[in-house]
Amino acid sequence: MATAVGMTRIVAADEPGVAAAVAALAQGELIGLPTETVYGLAADATNDDALRRVFEVKGRPTGHPLIVHIADASWLDALALDVSPACRALVEHAWPGPLTVVVRARDTVSRVATGGRDTVAVRMPAHGAALAIIARLGRPVAAPSANRFGGVSPTTARHVADDLGEDIALVVDGGACDIGVESTIVDCTLEQPEILRPGAVTQDDVRRIVAPSGTSIGEGVTGESRAPGMLARHYAPAAKLVLHETAASLPSDANPVLDCASDLVEAARTLYARLREHDAAGHAVVHVLMPPARGLGHALRDRLRKAASSAD
Ligand code: TXA
Ligand code: MG
Repeated sequence: MATAVGMTRIVAADEPGVAAAVAALAQGELIGLPTETVYGLAADATNDDALRRVFEVKGRPTGHPLIVHIADASWLDALALDVSPACRALVEHAWPGPLTVVVRARDTVSRVATGGRDTVAVRMPAHGAALAIIARLGRPVAAPSANRFGGVSPTTARHVADDLGEDIALVVDGGACDIGVESTIVDCTLEQPEILRPGAVTQDDVRRIVAPSGTSIGEGVTGESRAPGMLARHYAPAAKLVLHETAASLPSDANPVLDCASDLVEAARTLYARLREHDAAGHAVVHVLMPPARGLGHALRDRLRKAASSAD
């Protein structure tokens, strides 16, 4: 059963829903694609016109590259040149899952998807409907998070329909995202893999996986040229977020408080939905209790800092 929200069709993640999604992508249309991290705004990664529309609909600068999603790890070699042993080890352990690797792109990879770069970001998502759609299309699918540029990422089909309205053919409802924050991005073009964006595959996971190949990992926070689009302000709600490292620093009358310190997995899973709820409730200020800087806490701290930073 499809339900209509404005003009956007939300379809179930069943056989007819998957078939409709594949047909739309094959015709060069855009769809809302569920993944285990956040929902993507998906296009056939081999169709430059469709890719240009992704940038248009998102309101995203064209130099800010897209992640290319694949249905099987064996597809990596059709996109990439010179895949390092460390990169192989990472994808073998973490795919399907919340890990994106940046690798040298073959000439056949669309430079619209890569924002003109000779590197491409590739991920195999751990979501049955996403994998079924990409496999049946038989081509990789480019997908940034399905929100307007700079805004809060969507973690339900309804969020996508609310954000992108009539600009997409349909959204596949794959349920609320399990992880809730975007994938870990690792630059594998360097001798030492380097984390460009923290996610649910943690620094410790990456270190453990690449250690046997004799490589260490870079931990430096990278600049704009290395990971284009990692602007200071991103993932931002309308509310002003005030970040607190300890409960002791919360004002006694702090209300509402977003507790991200007690259960990191739950905090990540619900972060974006809670930010949206505060906006819907019209809260001008939200006090946030910050997670510790370990494990998944790094990804939460990164998103919360960017969501809290003032626009300039
Ligand atoms: O979990 C995710 O990764 C989600 C779901 C939909 O898969 N996607 C996502 O895409 O977060 P997006 O477009 O919101 O973020 C992609 C990030 C960008 O910030 C960009 O800087 C980085 O990936 N990126 C893409 N290609 C790159 C490249 N060739 N070199 C360096 N960074 C790249
Ligand atoms: Mg995004």
